[in-house]
Amino acid sequence: TELDRIRNFSIVAHIDHGKSTLADRLIQLTGTVAQRDMKEQMLDAMDIERERGITIKANSVRIEYPAKDGHTYILNLIDTPGHVDFAYEVSRSMRAVEGSLLVVDASQGVEAQTLANVYQAIDADHEIVPVLNKIDLPAAEPDRVKEQIEDVIGIDASDAIPISAKSGMGIPDVLEAIVQRLPAPKGDRDAPLKAMLVDSWYDSYLGVVVLIRVMDGVIRKGDTIRMIKTKATYKLDKLAVLKPQMVDIAELGPGEIGVFTASIKQVRDTRVGDTITHERAQCATALPGFKPAQPVVFCGLFPVDSAEFDALRDAIEKLALNDASFSYEMETSAALGFGFRCGFLGLLHLEVVRDRLEREYDIDLITTAPSVVYHIHMRDGEMRELHNPADMPDLTLVNHIEEPRIKATIMVPDDYLGEVLKLCQDRRGIQLDLTYAGSRAMVVYDLPLNEVVFDFYDRLKSVTKGYASFDYQITGYREDVLVKMSILVNDEPVDALSLMVHRDRAEMRGRAMCEKLKELIPRHMFKIPIQAAIGGRVIARETIAALRKDVTAKCYGGDVTRKKKLLEKQKAGKKKMRQFGKVEIPQQAFINALKMD
Ligand code: GTP
Repeated sequence: TELDRIRNFSIVAHIDHGKSTLADRLIQLTGTVAQRDMKEQMLDAMDIERERGITIKANSVRIEYPAKDGHTYILNLIDTPGHVDFAYEVSRSMRAVEGSLLVVDASQGVEAQTLANVYQAIDADHEIVPVLNKIDLPAAEPDRVKEQIEDVIGIDASDAIPISAKSGMGIPDVLEAIVQRLPAPKGDRDAPLKAMLVDSWYDSYLGVVVLIRVMDGVIRKGDTIRMIKTKATYKLDKLAVLKPQMVDIAELGPGEIGVFTASIKQVRDTRVGDTITHERAQCATALPGFKPAQPVVFCGLFPVDSAEFDALRDAIEKLALNDASFSYEMETSAALGFGFRCGFLGLLHLEVVRDRLEREYDIDLITTAPSVVYHIHMRDGEMRELHNPADMPDLTLVNHIEEPRIKATIMVPDDYLGEVLKLCQDRRGIQLDLTYAGSRAMVVYDLPLNEVVFDFYDRLKSVTKGYASFDYQITGYREDVLVKMSILVNDEPVDALSLMVHRDRAEMRGRAMCEKLKELIPRHMFKIPIQAAIGGRVIARETIAALRKDVTAKCYGGDVTRKKKLLEKQKAGKKKMRQFGKVEIPQQAFINALKMD
């Protein structure tokens, strides 16, 4: 295909502003997918994505569009994830295209992720076409939102396209704008092959599938290619384009986007951002490449039933095949037995992985409290990364501890600003900026990541009735006075409940956790003390009173079926419990104990 008949683009939007719905409409209107095969949210392949309505893995679709100028254009849409955890994948896939549609919900306006994502598009030198979605809603204010786009983002919005992705209104204008307003790709067909490895995933039939964008040269089925960073050589088995299902193609030239398979064993053998060239005629320079995404949140995953450990290991290994940003290593806990310490890009990523393990592999899991990665500077000058508070070295050997900090951007209607400032202040935040765009405030805070990973996002949503939006990036590590707090249940330390806290907040957190655990742990036949301690010093204490009556006593004497039912119910409940010495702790206690409210 000639370069000037190709347009490559992505869609940037805040979550729920309608990115997937618009993508569906573009696919539908151009007849890329036959009407009867059209499912909602075509691009969100995984069930969980569909269920939660979030897009996780970047994906791509090739659309053929007969434009008003009489020519047929090839439009390649690379779908990008919308959630903050996956910001890194957004920035990567944007390097593969020349333009972006900026979708803003005309009833909501610009939100934090709109900003974060559009800045990435600007960084990637994209031409940007603003699109105002949901104008069918009575609350839509396209003019106000146009103004806001200009004020807050600083791009011209006078030609913003009003649409309703839901009804299909305005979609033909979007297609025309893609052709007229976005630039064609550049590239040299006669140069040696240079292609960018945009993404890769594991397909159970085909093995590893690699998504590429050709910069220069031509790639053909049967070619022997070389990946410059990993130095690996492969022979192409299959070359295809995504419509969005795979359709074989003989070759891909400059500006084109497609996939290949080449008997690659695992996703880890491919490096996103790597340069692909021909084994025989290699390109002179490689593309700049990307740093691999680093896990920032760690937690332990343990099977509720220890007999399921092998099944859990198999499931984790399978998941990791398809997700290079997920890391794991075996862990043993005195309380929970054998399990895995797993690393994630953020909390959403953690939840998605945990859900998949529980649902697709049917394993009941105990998830321990998420923790960030601390830098422990030892007296002897060594720096250790701490992924698990339980591994905290002896304090007399430690010189100081550093924790990761983030720059958080929050956009919120004026009325809730006070609540947001209070929340950030409570979480040890330092205000960096506060500006207004109409009746919405934009606050920027420097916050410790450990105060955010857990329930910050939930709290923010609840104190602002869902009106705030949030985005963050990690800025670096800073020293602070951090201590390890242990929790003792019935005088036994429960390692899975220990956590790192700021010294000034330890007492408050300790008290809150003991109170929570008092509610979460059922009464036993004996009294159970619950204590929070730093080193040997107890800083908070609660006691669960002993159970006086037999549980079945309240079933009037002879009703055997009722009694049986109650016992059955207890047995089912047991499955979700974990035994610590003589005490049983319900599995959700490990997470809920940490929620602050
Ligand atoms: P993520 O995949 O989570 O990033 O969200 P998204 O931006 O892809 O949003 P999605 O397309 O899933 O749309 C979010 C919600 O808005 C869905 O319930 C859609 O049905 C609805 N929606 C999308 N476009 C329109 C529109 O034009 N009008 C109205 N009224 N609703 C819309």
